[in-house]
Amino acid sequence: MRGNEKTNNGLTIALSKGRMQDDALEIFGRAGIAVDEADLHSRRLLVKSADQRFNFIFVKPSDVPTYVEYGVADVGVCGLDVLMESRADVHEPLDLLIGRCSIAVAGRREVVGQDYNLLATVRVATKYPRIATAYFQERGIPIEVVTLSGSVELAPVLGLSDRIVDLVETGRTLKENGLEVIDIITESTARLIVNRASFHLKRAIVRDLVNELTKVL
Ligand code: PRP
Repeated sequence: MRGNEKTNNGLTIALSKGRMQDDALEIFGRAGIAVDEADLHSRRLLVKSADQRFNFIFVKPSDVPTYVEYGVADVGVCGLDVLMESRADVHEPLDLLIGRCSIAVAGRREVVGQDYNLLATVRVATKYPRIATAYFQERGIPIEVVTLSGSVELAPVLGLSDRIVDLVETGRTLKENGLEVIDIITESTARLIVNRASFHLKRAIVRDLVNELTKVL
């Protein structure tokens, strides 16, 4: 694991910027690990907890497993969807029960129930190429994956793909673009993940953190 003068000797925690950040910080706050308001409203990507024991880094959701796997962060919070896609080799000691959503196969209303055999190749647009490939491979359906990094719902609307594999939270984006869920691949919630070396080398502080978080869930 690499040391870094920007972080202290406590734990470094990687949080996803965006939709899960507030909920995750709220749980840490309930466990007595707070971040100053001024830091939260700044654009700083590395801040210390109010008691100086923890470093928080704010990164793109899909990068959380990378920071934790490489040990730049000891601990991270990320969705099971992101974790499955990354296949990072990390411990996953706790389901934080926030960020609840599904990873689903979806398509235009007209294709729901359509036999995949009617298509020579099924073109699937997604931010989750590994999850999508595994799902269709298990069913013996050949697919061509079109990897996108956002607004995936546009793909079937514009004819770029036959299906999408994407995150569904409220279902609003699908509905407002004339799409429907065809199958749920998995339900997802946010997980606390821990770097394998930190899990052993910083055992006491990691265990205390997991215990404190467990108590407030
Ligand atoms: C996610 C996801 C869907 C949308 C689902 O996108 O990829 O597009 O949220 O949410 P809903 O079911 O509540 O409508 P995100 O907002 O992360 O933006 P992106 O499309 O740029 O990835």
